[in-house]
Amino acid sequence: MVAKYARPNSILITGGSSGLGAALARAYAAPDVCLALTGRNADRLAAVAKDCTARGAEVNIAAIDVLERERLADWIDARAVAAPLDLLIANAGISAGTGGDGENEAQTRGILAANVDGVVNTVMAALPPMRARRHGQIAIMSSLAAFRGFPGAPAYCASKAAVRVWGEALRGQLTGDGVAVTVICPGYIKTPMTAVNRFPMPLLMESEKAAHIIRRGLARNKARIAFPWPTYALVRILAALPPGLIDPLLRRLPEKD
Ligand SMILES: NC(=O)c1ccc[n+]([C@@H]2O[C@H](COP(=O)([O-])OP(=O)(O)OC[C@H]3O[C@@H](n4cnc5c(N)ncnc54)[C@H](OP(=O)(O)O)[C@@H]3O)[C@@H](O)[C@H]2O)c1
Repeated sequence: MVAKYARPNSILITGGSSGLGAALARAYAAPDVCLALTGRNADRLAAVAKDCTARGAEVNIAAIDVLERERLADWIDARAVAAPLDLLIANAGISAGTGGDGENEAQTRGILAANVDGVVNTVMAALPPMRARRHGQIAIMSSLAAFRGFPGAPAYCASKAAVRVWGEALRGQLTGDGVAVTVICPGYIKTPMTAVNRFPMPLLMESEKAAHIIRRGLARNKARIAFPWPTYALVRILAALPPGLIDPLLRRLPEKD
């Protein structure tokens, strides 16, 4: 546990309206905590805010698409002025996959935009005030899918690989500025995103448990929070094997809808 990161008081989460983002919001919600939550669906955001308020947190919500760069930056600026940010969790993201009609061009561009540009828009807006205060922690939601391109979800894997590598490099770049960066790489978590999958998901984890693991890792200022470890070990092995050996096997894996 690093005392500086153990109890963030002002936390901003993108994708706070659902799944992992909502579970993280609920996990951090407590008296003396200011939560800023964003997503696109105002009703779902309001429901999460209600839970967090009941736990004693002060909550501000805004329905904003992470691709609306200026609106998002203005809102993040306003939140950082109202309650200077201790922790930013750039979590919003989408997936599709090559099941059904296949991953078409529109899906590919949409996934890369939301999962890469959306994360960049979020982090870039929060960074200047953190740098100025020489304080703050940035968590980037990647995935275990970031370590190898899987034929069932090419754009998703590519988007998560991009933000993983970006976050790892940012961590080194921002150390001198007093800003910490952590990359989060979860395996399968039970959320609306995975609810559509019709294939077995090894070690599928409840979002509350995932939020607990992420919170503990962030309190320790870990560079990478990758879990569960057996799935992490598996993807690292798959990534290390020569493509000629492993490609025929990966092609047989089920496709994501
Ligand atoms: N579930 C898993 O197994 C798993 C594993 C590894 C990584 N992840 C990552 O974890 C993150 C959260 O996913 P989840 O599983 O919790 O899925 P989810 O329940 O579908 O939640 C996705 C969240 O992202 C928001 N979002 C998506 N596109 C957005 C956009 N353009 N602008 C603003 N908000 C947007 C959604 O908001 P609205 O619904 O309000 O639009 C929602 O709050 C994603 O980055 C995902 O890739 C998930």
